[in-house]
Amino acid sequence: MKRILVTGATGQIGSELVHALRLRYGSDNVVAAGHQKAPQQSLIEEGPFTTLDVTCIEAINATVQHYRIDTIFHLAALLSAVSEKNPQRAWKVNMDGLFNVLEVSREQRCAVFFPSSIGAFGPDTPRDNTPQDTLQRPNTMYGVCKVSGELLCDYYFSRFGVDTRGVRYPGLISYETPPGGGTTDYAVEIFYHAIQNKSYTCFLQQGTYLDMMYMPDAIRAAIELMETDVSRLKHRNAFNITAMSFAPEELAESIRKHIPGFRMDYNVDPVRQAIANSWPRHMDDHAARTEWGWESQFDLEQMTAHMLTQLTAKLSATL
Ligand code: SER
Repeated sequence: MKRILVTGATGQIGSELVHALRLRYGSDNVVAAGHQKAPQQSLIEEGPFTTLDVTCIEAINATVQHYRIDTIFHLAALLSAVSEKNPQRAWKVNMDGLFNVLEVSREQRCAVFFPSSIGAFGPDTPRDNTPQDTLQRPNTMYGVCKVSGELLCDYYFSRFGVDTRGVRYPGLISYETPPGGGTTDYAVEIFYHAIQNKSYTCFLQQGTYLDMMYMPDAIRAAIELMETDVSRLKHRNAFNITAMSFAPEELAESIRKHIPGFRMDYNVDPVRQAIANSWPRHMDDHAARTEWGWESQFDLEQMTAHMLTQLTAKLSATL
């Protein structure tokens, strides 16, 4: 990785991944590409920023050639709940976008990182200790795109030799950039409400266990996988990775240790609850641990303490 392009750079993962990559590879060598959302000031100030619509293959090709890109972290995508509201658009952005990135990478010899998700599993998948290789019959458009994306990345490696790699991310928790329309978003929203109102109404019901991860672990995972000696990898794409599994009431309890008066009630959103019910409660990430040494650093208590400190500072700075 010498010259890197990050699509979806203004999103929840992208904004932090760009920063981490720039520290590691040099600011000028990491091009941040966003589309609809206005870029954060830091993205523009730190290094090159470009506007890029991933549904336009010519635009990707021109960007890759202009900046002499050799590695693409392809993060541009719609999240699960938004994809259910507009499945046609989700297919266009999530699938056509990936196909275009892979085609350009085939021609320009780029390596590709593609984030899959717990959404790539479905109601028939074992929900506890979900194996690396198992039944995947998702019933959401987001999931259909993710499992297709996993297969397409495998195909571009075996058929054309494109160096594709990727992980299945769980719900991601961060304080920099909010997620936009996912099923696991409650685990981020709750912190804003806990700090500002000492109360939160959760859209998933009690007992809904899902895999989760704090953003610093997620960023490190992407970089470590792309830097791994490829001869160690048996799976290239779609590695299960997780850091913690909890239900909403357990996260509330963890927050209460710092904000004793914090109250949570529930107003369940049937669409997002149905999506959550079709996802793993806890994935087995043994393959990632064995093949490239994956290890999480933040558990529930460490994540909660860090989130509250960082977000409190951020929110008081913006008041
Ligand atoms: N966090 C994502 C979502 O909820 C899942 O990958 O859509």
